[in-house]
Amino acid sequence: MSIKKRILTGITTSGTPHLGNLTGAVLPAIKASQDANTSSFLFLADYHSLIKNSDPSLTHNSSFEVAACWLSCGLDPNKVVFYRQSDIPHIFELNWILGCLTAKGLLNRAHAYKAAVSENQSSKQKDFDKGINMGLFNYPVLMSADILMFNADIIPVGQDQKQHIEMTRDIANRFNHHYGEVFSIPEALIDDETGVLPGLDGQKMSKSYNNVIPVFSESKKLRKTVMKIKTNSLEPGEPKSSEGCSIFTIYKAFASKNEIDTLTKEYENGIAWGEAKEILFEKLDSSLSGYRVEYEKIMNDRSYVEQILIAGSEKAKDVSTPIINKVRKAVGIKGFAKL
Ligand code: TRP
Repeated sequence: MSIKKRILTGITTSGTPHLGNLTGAVLPAIKASQDANTSSFLFLADYHSLIKNSDPSLTHNSSFEVAACWLSCGLDPNKVVFYRQSDIPHIFELNWILGCLTAKGLLNRAHAYKAAVSENQSSKQKDFDKGINMGLFNYPVLMSADILMFNADIIPVGQDQKQHIEMTRDIANRFNHHYGEVFSIPEALIDDETGVLPGLDGQKMSKSYNNVIPVFSESKKLRKTVMKIKTNSLEPGEPKSSEGCSIFTIYKAFASKNEIDTLTKEYENGIAWGEAKEILFEKLDSSLSGYRVEYEKIMNDRSYVEQILIAGSEKAKDVSTPIINKVRKAVGIKGFAKL
């Protein structure tokens, strides 16, 4: 038996990879996967994508783009288990089993569901559940199945996912208590604020806020996007604060200590916003160009990506098969006699 800690994280495939994904999830996960004392399970949460999106081409294209992003940023498929959620039917079987022992009241308290209800309430809807599908309601159960299916120990996630990990722990404990010890109890590894990038409007960079800088747009387009970052109305020559400034915060995620010190001074000296944006653009353009070359190559070789994911799903199933067998047996789903 391996004593390596299992790290597992998923990324929902509902958009084009952006800088927030890169600094908050992709690069830290790849770095963590290089630690010989851990084994990493990284997957595309493609069925999670259906919760908020019913456009098949968006789900499909995003799955491919996200896979290509991980691969072009240095994920080594020989070192990690890299797979698509949809290729592992055991996850969906477990999803049902866990759903049957999860209190509805627990899910009533999930932040995402509560936010949707309160939006209905404040817009004076008669039906507080209007527009809410069972996918959104059951989201935390599917996420628990993703995690428990592999008996993962450590789950690196953003602060917004903390409650889901707590629910996973609850559900795992409930299962173990009732049916006997099957699941490890996972722990969240919450990234600190340094991993969180602001978007064009200063809020957290996120597809839902429509404020993202894509990782892989070509130079001209990247420059155009950077120029859209909102700033205050301070004039050139007026000293500016680098703290809390989106341009500066994004720059910091890519620049060296010296470069950061230099830009800090330029802010104090009243750099013009246009100039600061130019500096940020140059930094991003040069930092991303290596990834971009790889990405272009991978994007043109769909069968390469497909083969990697299929091989990954085989490795994943080697791990999930004994666990789902144990689960089935524990709940009483098993053969009547050995034939
Ligand atoms: N819900 C996560 C997000 O949107 C993605 C996800 C799905 C996930 N299943 C997971 C993350 C399991 C960690 C573990 O960020």
